Order: sequence, then C-alpha cells, then structure tokens
Amino acid sequence: MTFSENLISTLKNAESICVLTGAGISAESGVPTFRGEEGLWKKFKPEELANFDAFICNPDLVWEWYAYRRRLIHEVKPNPAHYALVALEHFANNFTLVTQNVDNLHRRAGSKNVLELHGNIERSYCIQCRALAPDAVPEGPTGVQRCTKCGGLVRPDVVWFGEMLPLEVFSKAESAARQCDIFFSIGTSAVVYPAASLPYTALDHGAFVVEMNLESTDLSSRAHEVLTGKVGEILPDLLLQAGIQLQGEQ
Ligand code: OAD
Ligand code: ZN
Repeated sequence: MTFSENLISTLKNAESICVLTGAGISAESGVPTFRGEEGLWKKFKPEELANFDAFICNPDLVWEWYAYRRRLIHEVKPNPAHYALVALEHFANNFTLVTQNVDNLHRRAGSKNVLELHGNIERSYCIQCRALAPDAVPEGPTGVQRCTKCGGLVRPDVVWFGEMLPLEVFSKAESAARQCDIFFSIGTSAVVYPAASLPYTALDHGAFVVEMNLESTDLSSRAHEVLTGKVGEILPDLLLQAGIQLQGEQ
C-alpha cells in the first residue's frame, strides 16, 4: 500500500501518539470479532450472557462462556499488528494504547502503556468483597468459582452491558486522545460508547486521525486518512515506510 506523504510525515514528527484498538486487531490471530458475519454476537446473544443479571441467574452458563473464550485466547498468539504497536511505543516519546479488547494480546506482545477500557478476561474478582481471584487459567474449571475469602461469586473482570467503564482508565484515555498529534482507530466498528467517542475527542483537539479497518464505519467520513484492509498487513507496512524499526516476533 502507498501511504500519503502527509500521513508519513505526521507520523514521523509526532510527539504524542494515541491508538484505539478493537476486536479487528485480534481477528488475524484467530479471535472472533463481535459484529459482522463471523461475529460472536451472531452465535450468542449478549443480553443473555454479558450482563450482571444473566450472571446472577445463571452463573455457571456465563462462567462457561468465558471459560470457552479464555481457552480460545490462550491457543492464539499476537499477530504482526500487535507487534507493530510495540515498535510504535518504542518509537514515540509519548504513547498510549487504548484497547476495547479483553484478550490480553497487547500485553503478551510486549506493549506496556495499555489502557484496558473493557477489562481483561484473565482477571476475575469476587462480587461480594471485590477481592481479586487468582488468574483464571484456561484449563480451569468451567463452572462458576467461589471466593476463597468470603464464598461470594467470582466474576470475570470485564465490563458488561449496562455497566460503567473503569472511570480512571477512561479519563486517562480521554486525556491521551486530547493531547496526541496523531490518533489511530484500528479494527473497531466504532459503535460502542464511550470508547467510540475517543477519535472525535482527538479530532476536536486537532489530532490527525487515521482509521484502519476492513470496511468503512461512522468515523470514516471524519478521519483524515482511511486505510482499508487487514491491519496485520497495513500497520507493519506503514511503519516500514515511515522508517520505524519493527522488532520482536513478526
Ligand atoms: P466489532 O466486532 O464491533 O468490530 C470489529 C471491527 O474490526 C469491524 O469493523 C471489522 O470490519 C474490523 N476488522 C475485522 N477484521 C479486521 C482486520 N483483519 N483488519 C482490520 N479490521 C478488521 O468489535 P469492537 O469494535 O471491538 O464490548 O467492539 C466494541 C465492543 O463491543 C467490544 O469491546 C465489546 C463489544 O460489546 C464489551 O465487551 C464491553
Ligand atoms: Zn469475596
């Protein structure tokens, strides 16, 4: 792909970079996205599984669904797009990676400054005393777990429908979006708020906004650059053309 000179020079000269990722960045690792033909929500109804009431009514079923996704995630590896973001973090003076993904693949790839807006599927906590439970392991039990301290139900540390995002994490993400020179919206359908507001915050504060996706989204008409295709190919290519050293496993 050939990138515009404007994009290459803005990237090279950026003091501060902010990236928002969604399920699309993990698709090439083999993690299903939520929406679209192959999306998880075609097979499972979110209102039946990803909310607190569902958990209280049927904790074993919800736990089983997360156990299934945890196993799936453990079997896959970060892909070239995840590693390219590690390289970008090394390159930039100021770098914030905001992710909606709960799959932990950014950290496994080596990214450090990661803000997890929707939690992390590998962590769990007790709904009664809030104590963190030991990391859930893929080969762990498929039925709901009880807290070893108080006997309360243990739930995955992910944000469910109808729940607030972790406030402090979101406010850090907003301030990164306000301060950055260049903002990337990568592999997200950009429909779930408040995460989807971040590119607009960046636009309002004068950042150059780049979208990478297989298809167009609500953001596409507002972004300065829309790069259409697989992010595992586009992102490493962009870094190479900008002279940014790729590293780690590719
Ligand atoms: P979606 O499943 O809504 O969107 C994934 C996006 O990635 C789509 O726009 C695809 O076109 C794009 N895509 C797929 N494969 C790609 C590839 N190889 N390269 C580039 N783009 C690709 O996922 P999210 O936007 O992350 O929330 O969904 C947001 C939130 O909705 C999730 O965090 C989850 C869900 O409800 C919670 O669990 C709280
Ligand atoms: Zn407890």
